[in-house]
Amino acid sequence: MAKELRANPHLVLGLATGRTMEMVYQQVVKLHKESQLDFSLCHTFNLDEYVGLAPTDPHSYRYYMEQHLFSHVNLDKRNTHLPYGLAKDFDSECNHYEQRIKNSGGIDLQLLGIGKAGHIGFNEPLSALQSRTRVKALTPTTREQNAALFGDISKVPHRAFTMGVGTILESRRCILLATGKSKADILAKAVEGPMTSMISATALQWHPRCTVVVDEEAAGKLQATDYYRWIFENEPEWQDFR
Ligand code: GLP
Repeated sequence: MAKELRANPHLVLGLATGRTMEMVYQQVVKLHKESQLDFSLCHTFNLDEYVGLAPTDPHSYRYYMEQHLFSHVNLDKRNTHLPYGLAKDFDSECNHYEQRIKNSGGIDLQLLGIGKAGHIGFNEPLSALQSRTRVKALTPTTREQNAALFGDISKVPHRAFTMGVGTILESRRCILLATGKSKADILAKAVEGPMTSMISATALQWHPRCTVVVDEEAAGKLQATDYYRWIFENEPEWQDFR
């Protein structure tokens, strides 16, 4: 991400939230403070936002982004975009969001986490593979997964605005991150399983430039690890990361 931003200061970044991303933003903030990584011309678009939460609500994704990234780097706040959680007219908010992405020239680099049921953004099971930004009802699994952050499951909203699978597939490059044992099963299905709208992350198999970054635990159920390791150790593309 830093490499791409240094090469193109006008980079349009697609951002994600969740615990996995916290360590990413920590590193990015460090790079900004210690190696002058410059965000002044960069634009950001987040994947999703809860319906009904104000940007100032500590559980909103706008608040999360302020806490973990926006307030620590030199991003121009006017260039940071998330769907507005309090929007009443869902269709108009979603169309407007898609339009803003288009007007910015499209997303250059999209960061993605993966939910336990295999969602990217909040594209819950059966999300159409060509879907655009819209409101999705959250599954009980997703609400449970995120309940800890709200203190109590009853406080987790039932709906969220989310970029569609089609929106995500249009980004020029994607990076999917997963860590820990609890992601091993779904990660293997997403990467090596058959493509299905039941697991929206499998749609990334269709993306021409998607990189999956995992720790050993999250990689635990993958089949072709010898092949992946060979590529990582031998292909010039990965030289800087070895
Ligand atoms: C939420 C977000 C997803 C994220 C997922 C995983 O559902 N909408 O974008 O990928 O959580 O979160 P975590 O990284 O905390 O496991």
